[in-house]
Amino acid sequence: MNHNHTPVLIIGAGPAGLTLSHLLHLDGVESIVLEKRSREEVEGTIRAGILEPATLDLMKRTGVGDRVAREGIPEEGIEISVDGNRTRIDLYGLTGKTAAIYPQHEFLKDFISRRLKDKGTILFNTTVRDIEGEVVTIETPAGEITHIRADHVVAADGSASPWRQKVAEVRARHEYPYAWFGLLVEAPPTHSELIYATHPAGFALISKRNENVQRYYLQCDPNDQPEDWPEERIWEQLHLRADSNEITVSEGNITEKAVLRFRSAVTEPMQRGNLYLAGDSAHTVPPTGAKGLNLAVADVEVLAPGLIRAVKTGHTDLLDKYTEFALPHVWRAQQFSWWMSSLLHATKGENHFSARRRIAQLRSVLDSEAGRRFLAEQYVGTQAKELTS
Ligand code: PHB
Repeated sequence: MNHNHTPVLIIGAGPAGLTLSHLLHLDGVESIVLEKRSREEVEGTIRAGILEPATLDLMKRTGVGDRVAREGIPEEGIEISVDGNRTRIDLYGLTGKTAAIYPQHEFLKDFISRRLKDKGTILFNTTVRDIEGEVVTIETPAGEITHIRADHVVAADGSASPWRQKVAEVRARHEYPYAWFGLLVEAPPTHSELIYATHPAGFALISKRNENVQRYYLQCDPNDQPEDWPEERIWEQLHLRADSNEITVSEGNITEKAVLRFRSAVTEPMQRGNLYLAGDSAHTVPPTGAKGLNLAVADVEVLAPGLIRAVKTGHTDLLDKYTEFALPHVWRAQQFSWWMSSLLHATKGENHFSARRRIAQLRSVLDSEAGRRFLAEQYVGTQAKELTS
């Protein structure tokens, strides 16, 4: 195959890059996806897994939704526990929509296998060395340096993207005074629905992966190391923060421990010349609410029609509006992730006033139907298209 020229070159085989490549292909626009890791690494990196209805809808509409329909766990509601008292947020009843629990690497497997079945080009173990306008310099798996000419280049290579600086004028950031200690546990499910628990000792999230493997998180200090959390402390804190009427966090063998940093960042604009940012290269959200993947998909749903029109007709009018169309949903997701994080986490040194006020604010959301509906709508997400049409 001749890789000397492509209409669209996509850096990164993550949610943004693969979804974009798939959407372009369905409209007859070919692309090359470059990925510095191996296929095994991409398919084996475990990340949060809540797919919003808009993401599920895109998968179904574009022919990659069969497996998630079979294996995804429908999320019709979530529960919020305040000092051991649970309130159910009826996501389906309040919004008519359901999300699904489906880990990110399963999403990636579905898109990789479909791109390869459609004879798409994904070059694994391939590193981008430089981008100069239309000329992209790459290093092949064999260590050779070569060039690809691309009319459009999309950097979808995650939050450490070195190409962001070629685009960014403003990088808005927020750091949070807490982090999550994430655990994979071989145990039966604690409960049928996710539990977001707040307690004076800190936040805990009881999520799941399948019938035998559960995903738990404990609020921790951003500087904590896994060694700071011996098993005894883990179980004591999970029970203290998340046990509630009739529900006891189920214990088991812990197979993975990692500290997840909490950061918000947004790059503006998301385009300069023929270089576009999509997904985490442009913005990161903290894990509360698991919006990251959905936001990446929402970006490329906006970017794809602009690229298709530009490649087919030469008109860049839609493409030039990419930043303007993408940013509103990015900022709404930032706001929601920040709001939910702030309501649920006890901050270090939180004084009596702040702690009581925070719980009163949370209760005023949970105890009102309007409040629960607002939370549910934001949690299941707003389609980018609704915002831009
Ligand atoms: C997860 O299962 O990893 C998860 C679920 C919900 C969240 C964040 C992470 O809000």
